[in-house]
Amino acid sequence: MAEITLPKNSKIKKGKRYSLLNELHTYADFFKDSQNIYPIAEFYVYRWDPENDNNPRHDIYPINLDECGPMILDALIKIKNEIDSTLTFRRSCREGICGSCAMNIDGVNTLACTKPIAEIKNGVVKINPLPHQPVIKDLVPDLSNFYQQHKNIKPWLRTKTNSPEKEWNQTKEDREKIDGLYECIMCACCSTACPSYWWNSDKYLGPAALLQSYRWIVDSRDEEKKERLDDLDDAFKVHSCRSIMNCSKACPKGLSPAKAIAEIKKELATRK
Ligand code: SF4
Ligand code: SF4
Ligand code: FES
Repeated sequence: MAEITLPKNSKIKKGKRYSLLNELHTYADFFKDSQNIYPIAEFYVYRWDPENDNNPRHDIYPINLDECGPMILDALIKIKNEIDSTLTFRRSCREGICGSCAMNIDGVNTLACTKPIAEIKNGVVKINPLPHQPVIKDLVPDLSNFYQQHKNIKPWLRTKTNSPEKEWNQTKEDREKIDGLYECIMCACCSTACPSYWWNSDKYLGPAALLQSYRWIVDSRDEEKKERLDDLDDAFKVHSCRSIMNCSKACPKGLSPAKAIAEIKKELATRK
């Protein structure tokens, strides 16, 4: 029987619990209300530093929500600015546009900047990096393979004829075919929620790259549909999708990579 063991340093240990006093500015703040009633939430945040040999851990940061913005990303920024500057995470737009703040919040892949703290249950939330990717540090996953797969599908308009001299118009109907596809922000929430991708991410392109690929396959201006489908037509790149639908549930932009994959499979099955 196969013996499965986890690497020695893979177990997540209990980390440091920060006191609310770290978070409040002064002791006077803490005692200003004799009842000491603040809306407090506890943030359990995954910490791992590649520069030492320690196991990953969850550090616990209590936050006074009266002094914090409404989103999970606001709390992480507050922790970094006011409590623990060593905490590392990605973010940029704070508007759900750049996709860089994708992480796993209470077991669900989503964007920290659009996830309201008000949705936390019982005042406690666990924050981990996107699952099944190597971790660079704390909440920052290594998405090199994910981006390489995006590059592999050649995500740009490919033409054979000369480019038109003026605007290349589409009909309203053709333009509508890329709705639900062009909005993808490459956050990786879907691919890192996909069990098939967890086990075969070296061969299976995963839902994000496939949705992007379909975005160009249905673009009426693209002239390499056949080549795109030829590239996808192997046992793993598309066909490792088992229609489990985790990807569509995970997408914070409300897109359906599973539907795009089903359309690619249909194109492959029906082409001459
Ligand atoms: S539908 Fe396909 S791509 Fe989406 S989670 Fe399931 S196996 Fe992965
Ligand atoms: S399909 Fe959705 S979850 Fe997947 S990368 Fe695009 S925006 Fe993110
Ligand atoms: S910071 Fe850009 S999507 Fe969250």
